Amino acid sequence: MPRATTVFVCSACGTESAKWHGQCPGCGAWNTLAEESRGAARGGAKQASGRAVKPVRLADVRAEKHARLSTGIGELDRILGGGLVPGSIVLIGGSPGIGKSTLTSMALGNLQGAGRRTLYVSGEESAAQIRLRAERLPGAALEVPVLAETDLDTVLGTLDAERPEVCVVDSVQTLHAAELTGAAGSVGQVREVADRITRLAKARGIAVLLVGHVTKEGALAGPRVLEHLVDCVLQFEGERERTYRTLRALKNRFGSTNDVGVFEMRQGGLVEVADASARFVGEATCAPGSAVLAAMEGSRPVLVEVQALVSQSELVPPRRVANGIDRNRLALVLAVLGRHAGVGVGSADVFVNVAGGVRVDEPGADLAIALAVAGAARGVALGGGERPLACFGEVGLTGELRSVGHADRRLAEARKFGLTEIVGPRESGARFEAPTLRAALRAALGPSDSRGARAA
Ligand SMILES: Nc1ncnc2c1ncn2[C@@H]1O[C@H](COP(=O)(O)OP(=O)(O)OP(=O)(O)O)[C@@H](O)[C@H]1O
Ligand SMILES: [Mg+2]
Repeated sequence: MPRATTVFVCSACGTESAKWHGQCPGCGAWNTLAEESRGAARGGAKQASGRAVKPVRLADVRAEKHARLSTGIGELDRILGGGLVPGSIVLIGGSPGIGKSTLTSMALGNLQGAGRRTLYVSGEESAAQIRLRAERLPGAALEVPVLAETDLDTVLGTLDAERPEVCVVDSVQTLHAAELTGAAGSVGQVREVADRITRLAKARGIAVLLVGHVTKEGALAGPRVLEHLVDCVLQFEGERERTYRTLRALKNRFGSTNDVGVFEMRQGGLVEVADASARFVGEATCAPGSAVLAAMEGSRPVLVEVQALVSQSELVPPRRVANGIDRNRLALVLAVLGRHAGVGVGSADVFVNVAGGVRVDEPGADLAIALAVAGAARGVALGGGERPLACFGEVGLTGELRSVGHADRRLAEARKFGLTEIVGPRESGARFEAPTLRAALRAALGPSDSRGARAA
């Protein structure tokens, strides 16, 4: 049997080298060489000496329909497309302390309680620490077998011997393949760990939940190839200090990537928030600077409160702080407000926040940002301030209000929670249909706003 060797491969041009170089000898790029193992399984891939196999017509392929494994967490099952698929690999990414271990422990506890064989592999925490977490979780979380181990071969050996139906690996960055010299978490290690776990899981039909760290920028740490390797990539988002967290699928081979689940971190673990709109509308303040956005989180409508504060600035340039929305989107909306709607906030600090720590990344949020900022700048509550005013619509660069998808579902959600004062684009069916941002401001704030509002 050929001996496993290691080579260094450039992630930019694919040049292979026996030694590590800071600069790729092939393309000259810096820090692109990553260690790879060329073991018996991969050796000889370049030689066309393999046995020829007759390809099979798809219709003749035997595909057994496996029942999905329910994790007992409705929001997680929904995002996965109806539960875990046996033999699939799901990567869950999220910033430190967001609740990745809690979510996966809860899922395993529920599966164990439902009579499934499970295994929790942790390279981050000791078995005692995992037990402490499990004590505050519901279900059969304490019944789950754990393995606190960082050596990849030991983990694979145990998986092969125990043959669990569902396994959590927390996290992919902490496991270490002995044949590679790089530290755990390095690009080469992460790729090797994920690759070998994937191969074993597919061969044995084990559904694996791989926990992954994210970088400071919020992307999944490790090589991009990790995302290609797995079947499903879930992103767990939210701010650690806030209670609400959202879970969304960035990639899903067995379901749509449109759905978003909302969770709340409580003493007893993560609790699903099925009625997110009711919570957020109930907490809406109706004060100047507040607007309720009828947003679409994938295929699900949700009402969230967008708050703005405009205050005189001592700084040049003034501050623009955006939480829960894209900073560039805020800059665009502020520019259009000043140029086309007569609400200039040039020398003022502007803070915009989506209440509850939720993040909305859709163009339909523009109008809510614009109305919240205009209301804050004018010191006027939208729609008179008695009931929250709901809105949605994309702001165009020429000051027009553009239509966005699913107007009917947004309207239905707003009405369901008793919000009838709704501002939307033309032909959206909203109570106030506004062709331009200026017209929307007039509907929401009254006619005086368009005479050139200035920040206090
Ligand atoms: N008793 C408790 N009551 C409420 N919330 C708690 C309690 N204990 C821990 N938490 C919350 O759980 C979070 C930690 O969750 P968890 O360990 O699942 O996060 P994680 O994403 O796995 O973090 P890491 O990246 O460090 O592994 C803490 O930030 C805290 O908000
Ligand atoms: Mg953890």
